[in-house]
Amino acid sequence: MIHKENPVFPKNFFWGASSAAWQVEGAVNEDGRTPAVIDLNSQTKKPFADNSIASDHYHHYKEDVALMKEAGFTSYRFSIAWPRIYPDNSGVPNQKGIDFYNHLIDELKANGIEPIVTLYHYDMPVWVDKEYNGWYGRGIVDAFDQYVRTCFKEFGDRVKYWLSINEQNMQIVYGEWLGVCKNKDTWFTDQWKVNHIMNLCHAKAVIACHELVPDGKIGPVPGMVPIYSNTGNPMDQIARLNAEEFTEKIWNDFYVHQKYSNFIINYWKENNIDPDIRPEDQELFNQAKIDYFGVNCYRSNTAAEAKVDEKPQAYELNKLGIKGNLKFPVVPGEYKLVYNDYVQYTDWDWEIDPVAMRYVLRDMWNLYHLPMVITENGYGAHEDVDENGEVNDVERIEFLKNQIYQVGLAIQDGVQVIGYNPWSFTDLLSTGNGMAKRYGLVFINRTDDDLRDLSRIKKASFYWYSKLIKSNGTDWGK
Ligand code: BG6
Repeated sequence: MIHKENPVFPKNFFWGASSAAWQVEGAVNEDGRTPAVIDLNSQTKKPFADNSIASDHYHHYKEDVALMKEAGFTSYRFSIAWPRIYPDNSGVPNQKGIDFYNHLIDELKANGIEPIVTLYHYDMPVWVDKEYNGWYGRGIVDAFDQYVRTCFKEFGDRVKYWLSINEQNMQIVYGEWLGVCKNKDTWFTDQWKVNHIMNLCHAKAVIACHELVPDGKIGPVPGMVPIYSNTGNPMDQIARLNAEEFTEKIWNDFYVHQKYSNFIINYWKENNIDPDIRPEDQELFNQAKIDYFGVNCYRSNTAAEAKVDEKPQAYELNKLGIKGNLKFPVVPGEYKLVYNDYVQYTDWDWEIDPVAMRYVLRDMWNLYHLPMVITENGYGAHEDVDENGEVNDVERIEFLKNQIYQVGLAIQDGVQVIGYNPWSFTDLLSTGNGMAKRYGLVFINRTDDDLRDLSRIKKASFYWYSKLIKSNGTDWGK
């Protein structure tokens, strides 16, 4: 549908940006924090970059919040590091870890910025991993419950928007890449047990939030990659539906309906998979009603039929940042993903597709009728300061402009979107490429190998975004 007027964003729309603790904070050994599994991965598995300093937000948080204020932010989405709050199994929370987040939250509130807080963004404490076998053991459920209850009690007087687990779907789909899978050979079946345990943790967080946070709202954060059909071939359409189920819909249906869909139950039966669902689990799920969705969306995918006798291919992400180094998955009998001639690609072979944003918002609204806040969306690029000490990131401006416009169109279409928080505020470590793949509105003066001075340099996109959000989405610039 063509709208006659330019999009109008609601009053009180949350304009901000996003980050995650392990990718931005650094200070991994300070004030009582103990290691997270992802710290160890980041130090050993190249091209992960060492996260011990990251963007050094831990020591620069006041300066960072001042920049947010200058930009005109009304929200900031960040995550809490579990190993800062519970560094060991003593059951005693770490006051210094709590203090850090209290200071950050107070600073945000004092500057009129609404905190939107993710409870889990990949930083599982090593002690939890050792003691409970990570996501593989049910012991994590009580440990997670203890952790989230502490967060709600300590911060819930000021934080009203909570997010449970970041991209649970992607942690399962890319289990190995994101450090969740412990054994490749048994992952085909293990993933559903792990996923069930994550669902139990998600449910615990939803229940505890509603119990402990007055007026608190909580939701999940699926990683959404809307999937198109490659052609009008009916079998491509079924492939599209399959891809959608296996990468995102199974999760979203579960969060909203609080039970597993027939699609996945039948799949488990056919494949002799037992996710170890116990009767008391459903009782827990029944109480876990979500209030909204955080939506991470960067790109789209395109699906085509994969015949049963096609050669399987695992998804191989482009980790080089040179176009043409991605291998799309082929899952025989289910679907394969293919390149799409109608969109451009980034250097990491991610589709540049603003319309995907409108599509995903409309689709999720039609399916679930829940408010949504964009918690991630952004443009990863190779970048450095130029000879004038500036970063003229015109491609990012173009990317954000087109994406935000489509958010506006979705709102005109009738979708309830309450905020937009692109990835990321400052540059931070990319999961695959450290500082070599930058997303920020603010440049962090360091590279993977050279710490330079860690100074903050506003990119051209900072100024452009600031104008747009101060005009509540009417000043689109030239
Ligand atoms: C999201 C994650 O999936 O994508 C972030 O929540 C991540 O943690 C972002 O950084 C971008 O991905 P990448 O691999 O480019 O860092």
